[in-house]
Amino acid sequence: MLRIRIPASTANLGSGFDSIGISLNLYNYIEIGAAPGCEISSADGSEIPTGEDNLIFLSAKKVYEKAGIPFHGLKIIEENNVPFARGLGSSSACIVGGVFGANEILGRPFTKDELLDIAAEIEGHPDNVSPALLGGFTANALDGKNVRYVKANVSENLVFAAFVPPFELKTADARAVMPKEVSVKDSVYNLSRSALLSATFLSGKYENLKTACGDKLHQPYRLPLIPGGEEIIEKSYKNGALAAYISGAGSTMMAIFDCEKEKAEEIAKEILSSGEFEGWKYFILNADNSGAVAL
Ligand code: HSE
Repeated sequence: MLRIRIPASTANLGSGFDSIGISLNLYNYIEIGAAPGCEISSADGSEIPTGEDNLIFLSAKKVYEKAGIPFHGLKIIEENNVPFARGLGSSSACIVGGVFGANEILGRPFTKDELLDIAAEIEGHPDNVSPALLGGFTANALDGKNVRYVKANVSENLVFAAFVPPFELKTADARAVMPKEVSVKDSVYNLSRSALLSATFLSGKYENLKTACGDKLHQPYRLPLIPGGEEIIEKSYKNGALAAYISGAGSTMMAIFDCEKEKAEEIAKEILSSGEFEGWKYFILNADNSGAVAL
């Protein structure tokens, strides 16, 4: 059995809807090996889909199909630490775990770039699968079936405070509240900011982040689905955050700080101390610059 580590990821960062993401040092682990049938279990006893509709299984099977290699089944043991349906890339971690694992088992018929195309085809957009596979900050565009991307390593001085609510938000529901059409004015607002966002991570000029993470495409429509979300953005900025935004489709709210981890933890505790945040948790994280790895 192969043991694989796959990172969580935070997508969109406000302006970079469906295109930009960063890998985080919060990890799922899977053990995976060829075996007849479908044998899936959880290392920590948590409830997971154990049938052939399991996303790791499906994604791994896709790699066999693409490689033209007969598929007889897999044994998979999962250890899930990335919260499910909270905007931290849990499904992408499964997809990347499956495609990466199958590629390793088969002696690497595909390059990482080809694996990314397969993973993005399964997910539908590249903004979580790309950082989960490659690590770091990635700016991505789908060109037909191919993902064109640029990756940049992220400074370990940046601290990511993930505020995780007790409720799930399904991506489909968070996408359903978005308008079908947007104005040229709002498009330009986001286009300019997502360009600035990429340039900011490539140059390290992080003082641009607050502007660069501005968004008019999805956050105004999604914030009402996350009670307390707006307050977390406000309070994070009051406490010196470089950026604060909905992580992926939510429900997690993310704030980026340039300070000691202890200080960020103090701020996170303080923000969540009021009654309205009962049941919320926080993670104090850094970016992961490695992506998926076989251990
Ligand atoms: N870019 C996606 C969204 C991320 O915001 O809907 C969640 O898959």
